[in-house]
Amino acid sequence: MSVFREQILAGRVAFVTGGSSGIGLGIAKMLASQGARVMINGRNEEKLAAAVKEIEDLGGTATGAAADVRNYDAMAAALAGCRAKWGEIDILICGAAGNFPAPVTGMSANGFKAVMDIDVLGTFNACRAAHEHLRAPGASIVAISANHASVAYAWQAHVCAAKAGVERLLQVLALEWGPQGIRCNLVNPGPIDDTEGMRRLAPTEEARAAAVRTVPLGRFGTKDDIANLVLFLCSEAGAFCNGAVFVCDGGQALMGARALG
Ligand code: COA
Repeated sequence: MSVFREQILAGRVAFVTGGSSGIGLGIAKMLASQGARVMINGRNEEKLAAAVKEIEDLGGTATGAAADVRNYDAMAAALAGCRAKWGEIDILICGAAGNFPAPVTGMSANGFKAVMDIDVLGTFNACRAAHEHLRAPGASIVAISANHASVAYAWQAHVCAAKAGVERLLQVLALEWGPQGIRCNLVNPGPIDDTEGMRRLAPTEEARAAAVRTVPLGRFGTKDDIANLVLFLCSEAGAFCNGAVFVCDGGQALMGARALG
């Protein structure tokens, strides 16, 4: 899974929102493979238990914390629990996100709000509630964003608005918390195979082929492609990175604004 021979995160504590599946679970597995103790946060107890078992079966240390990122009190309790269990938190990954393809006229106000709440409010809640438990100096926060933050995609108004908010939020935190030695960065994955997002956005073979055609490298990304970049940002190797957006999309963003399909 990892290109490193030694565990570069031995002794570290990580908290991963949206960590029970997809890119979030891929990151949780990577951090655990590097020696971090990982608390996985998600809404579904069964999915959390399965994710924890997957990491334990690989020899890692993990536990689950069921909480909706939209609920500040629940997130504060989960993060306090992580600190009580393992000590100060070194790594916070904000991976929880919502998505469904729909034109603006096919989206209710509540549908738009659901994604804004999960992405923007959820990221705020996780960061705000984590702050008092973060190792300072030393902690690293990474939010999983998307090129939607700066590129317009039709049928993705909610995600474009939400990711723009997440990007600016993390950059404000980079300014406010940088002096405390807490680094805040963003990772923009392109189309990543075997994820809930791609199953929703490209549900047919035809749609998958069209999605691959938008990537200059000519393939989907893998969860490890993203997890390796996150690992870099959470390690000493990324020690001078703060407030930056790291695009990992095979060059897709170079294609610019586009309509779906
Ligand atoms: N098209 C249009 N509207 C949709 C929709 C779709 N495909 N899917 C959900 N909605 C609307 C619902 O109709 C509802 O609005 P309404 O009350 O006006 O009817 C609103 O979104 C909230 O839906 P609900 O299922 O109650 O919300 P939720 O909080 O359980 O789910 C979502 C949030 C909608 C974002 C859901 O897609 C989700 O949980 N996704 C998480 C997983 C995911 O998307 N991962 C990929 C991230 S890239």
